[in-house]
Amino acid sequence: MNGTVSGGSHDPFSADEIAQYRSETSGLENRVHLNSAGASLMPNVVLDAVVGHIQLEADIGGYEAADAATETIQEAYVDTAGLVGAQVGRLAMTEHATASFVTALSSVPFQSGDVLATTRQDYVSNQIQYLSLAERFGIEIVRVPDAPEGGVDLGAMEQVIQRRRPKLVAVTQIPTNSGLVQDVYAVGAMCRDHNVLYLVDGCQSVGQMPIDVEAMGCDFFSATSRKYLRGPRGAGFLYVSDRVIDLGLQPLFPDMRGADWVDSDHYQPAADARRFETWEYAWALVLGTGAASRYAQKVGLGRIHARACALAAQMRRRLSTLDRVKVLDHGRELGAIVTASFEGHDPASLVYELRRRGINTSSQTRIDAVIDYDEKGVDGSLRISPHYFNTEDDLDALEGALMEIVRA
Ligand SMILES: Cc1ncc(COP(=O)(O)O)c(C=O)c1O
Repeated sequence: MNGTVSGGSHDPFSADEIAQYRSETSGLENRVHLNSAGASLMPNVVLDAVVGHIQLEADIGGYEAADAATETIQEAYVDTAGLVGAQVGRLAMTEHATASFVTALSSVPFQSGDVLATTRQDYVSNQIQYLSLAERFGIEIVRVPDAPEGGVDLGAMEQVIQRRRPKLVAVTQIPTNSGLVQDVYAVGAMCRDHNVLYLVDGCQSVGQMPIDVEAMGCDFFSATSRKYLRGPRGAGFLYVSDRVIDLGLQPLFPDMRGADWVDSDHYQPAADARRFETWEYAWALVLGTGAASRYAQKVGLGRIHARACALAAQMRRRLSTLDRVKVLDHGRELGAIVTASFEGHDPASLVYELRRRGINTSSQTRIDAVIDYDEKGVDGSLRISPHYFNTEDDLDALEGALMEIVRA
């Protein structure tokens, strides 16, 4: 097996390390997995954490198992908070990124006429939520234009923040539909300077690159476990800043876990991020999220990022040499997601044909990113999302299979 990227001189991992990490993921025995932007493969330790707790629930009862796992659950919070540079009291566990995003959004006291500033590349469900807020509460959505090289125009963002004084700025760090990485740190500095609330969707970035929510200056950071973090499906988390707590922001529909005190007429929101949580959890999945966070930090986020991006860059180079294939990723900074359109081929059929050959990728249609795909003049794309555990052999297998399918 080839553990190198482009000859290996800048590869932060040795071939032995890659072989070791691969051996710790049973799913890699049978598949070429290039779908970490959809759902990655869990390392065995993550699977063990999830299955172990489900087994304990079956053996002694769900509530009793949660009590027995109090310490390991606390470790899951500590390690997941550590993954993004947060204090443990500022991390809420959720069911997925959208749940995190919605609960955060619901805490912003929008009034008619308020401005929400965002980008043209924000995730589709987030855009739908903005549209719903506009329709129901009369807020104005300002989509800041992109720079010519791709990604939000930072100068234009600064002007919107200065002139329109948005109630909230919301940016998706890595869109679902492209290799673009938005400069969420620069936008965070602007929001701090102008005292504007800032929500970052980190669904595709967490586990793919180092994240420091303090340096980012965000008030909310929403994430999911199953993608580049390599956690289980059905779990996610939300970071909230001190400012959110100090301002007394709380979700529109709090749950009793989020209350420190209740009488028949009042309640007191929890003094920490618990106010964004609900009472019922799949604790097995929370433990899986903790195990995935620990594993990613052990491997090292800096080098995970370097290798995943190098593999993606190599994939883009390979695809750009193929006839009637258009690589769609634009931006000052590109990450590990590769998107491409194949003239005369529906992306969903390509995914199906690849999957039949044991190669996992995913496809997107226009509805996943209306603004971006319309601008690029395509109906959707094939999405190839390597991670650090992939190898050049995986890229060879994908390229070979694509050529075979396209020729047929
Ligand atoms: C950028 C981005 N944000 C949010 C989501 C939604 O995540 P979830 O399905 O965990 O709610 C996705 C899912 O693909 C995504 O790519």
